[in-house]
Formats: sequence, structure tokens, C-alpha cells
Amino acid sequence: MAESIGKGERRVIVLGTGGTIAGRASTAGDNIGYKAGEVGVAELLGGIDAPDGVSLLAEQVAQIDSKDMSFAIWQTLARRCAHWLAEPGVAGIVITHGTDTLEETAFFLQSVLAPSKPVVLTCAMRPSTALAPDGPQNVRDAVVVVSTPGVQGVVVVCAGTVHSAFDVQKVHAYRLDAFDSGDAGPVAYVEEGALRVLRNWPAPAGSARLAFERMSGAESWPRVEILVSHAEARGAIVDALVQERRLGRADAIEGLVLAATGNGTLHHALEAAALRAQAEGVAVVRATRCSQGRILPRQTEVLRDAGALTPVKARIALMLELLSGERPA
Ligand code: SIN
Repeated sequence: MAESIGKGERRVIVLGTGGTIAGRASTAGDNIGYKAGEVGVAELLGGIDAPDGVSLLAEQVAQIDSKDMSFAIWQTLARRCAHWLAEPGVAGIVITHGTDTLEETAFFLQSVLAPSKPVVLTCAMRPSTALAPDGPQNVRDAVVVVSTPGVQGVVVVCAGTVHSAFDVQKVHAYRLDAFDSGDAGPVAYVEEGALRVLRNWPAPAGSARLAFERMSGAESWPRVEILVSHAEARGAIVDALVQERRLGRADAIEGLVLAATGNGTLHHALEAAALRAQAEGVAVVRATRCSQGRILPRQTEVLRDAGALTPVKARIALMLELLSGERPA
């Protein structure tokens, strides 16, 4: 299950989960008509040299197109990370992952691990069979980041740029440099095998341990849906979801993230329905649908906001909060 490269004393664990980086197309020139999650993670390490004193150990955790990411895989991934991070000889972890939900996995892992060692997610926009695949350079850069002393927390490495799990977002559907950190900017760049650090690494947090235990012990996850506020938005979907709760469906909604316009505003019809849902016990959070900036709180708001979190990250934060049973009044 695990394959080793190099003979160094410090180990870097490379966990494979699939994605375009592990994708295979039938013709080399085809950068979009491929199947994600085909090539094993040990094969992705072919031609990647371990830095001096470091050995690479590959382990396949999943083999999927990341659009199909599930909580079961997140649970397994978080457990494998926790296992390896606890090993004294392990410098850190690289995770090969699809780009489509990479920011969600990164934020999830930072929330439940907040590690004092580095966990570096990396990816590719072209399949491994492309004429000029971007995956090998990204993996090499990720190994450099993990092997550099002083690095900590969950970050994403793509196209020579290191992004914090808190800020990273996929912003381009095709370009190799597909990620951005918005106002916060990148944490570092990787240049010819060396790190140029710009700001602090994501910090360890004591609360992560409890979040990990609750997440790891959960048999199912609270259902949290995301709905977008837009021109002509309505409340009918919210009301239908609440009706499922009234009927006692086992997987009925527990939380709702509203992807709000601008500084957290909602179409009045959607807002009215969200307030009805909140009155019936649904946890409701507003997150801005803008790709940059944060919601600045206003005293008059009745529905709480997610600050700088994007809707997909606000959903993860809300699910972890519901799992903890510690809902704000
Ligand atoms: C995926 O997210 O698994 C497919 C797309 C990609 O990796 O770019």
C-alpha cells in the first residue's frame, strides 16, 4: 500500500486522492478529454528527487475526481494525516488532489488538524498524459515546501505559489495558475527549489483537536445546503427543505448557508424564508458570493455572517460547529 523513494531520515508522506494530476487521456495533446483519478500516487512520484536527507513514502487514500469528494474520504484522509503527523520522523505530508474541491479539503483539514507540521495539497490542471503536464513540477514544489524547516499548517501549492487553506480559491477553469488568495495574497513562492516566504503560515489551533475527535467519531454528517441569493430569488426551496424537517426525515437539513450578494445582503423573499427556517431550528449563515473581500457586520442583521469565508468554506465551518453541538444562541 505504501511505497518508498530515497533513503533520508526525515520522511515526507505523499497521500494520493486522485484528480487531474492523476488523470489519463487517450491522446497526449488532449488536456480536457481525460479521466481524473487513474494513475497511482507512487507513479506520480516517478522522476521526483527527494531532497537530501528526506525520503518520500507514497500511500493511496482515494482515487477520485474531486468533484465527487465525500465526507467518508475526508474522514479517512484526516485520520491518515493525524496518524502520520504523530510519527516523530515525519517532516510533513503532501496530498495530491483534484483542483475542483481542493480549497474545501484544505480548509477542512486545517479546521480539524491545524497542524504544527506542514500539510501541503497539490494538484494539476493538465492530466499526467499531457504533452507538458504541470503535475510533476507542482509535486516537486510541494515536496520542497514540506521539507523546508519552519513551515506549518495546511497550504496549497500550485504553479509556484503557496496559498493558505483559509484564503485559497480556485479562480480559473483552465489556466495552470488556477488559484488565488484574494486580498490576503499568497503565503510564499517556490522558486527553483527554494521558498520565498511573504507572510505567516496558518497557525496551529487548540480547538482543532476536539473538532477532529467529533468529526472522526461521527457516523454521519449534519446536512448543510448552500443557496444563492440572486435577482428574482425565492424562498420556496428553503420552505421545502424545512418541510422535510417537519416530516422528520432522517437526513433533513440542519444548516443553511446563503451565498449572499455584496456585503451579505439577501433578496427579501429568500431572507424571509431563511428567517422562518431559523425560527424552526435551522442554523443559518450568510457568506458573500463575491470572490474577494469579507462581510463587514452590521448591527441590524438577524442572520449571522461568515466573515471572510466563502460559501463552500462557511458550509464546512457550519457542519463542524453542528457536530460540536455548540451553536451560538
Ligand atoms: C478534479 O478536481 O478531480 C478534476 C479537475 C482537476 O483536478 O483539475
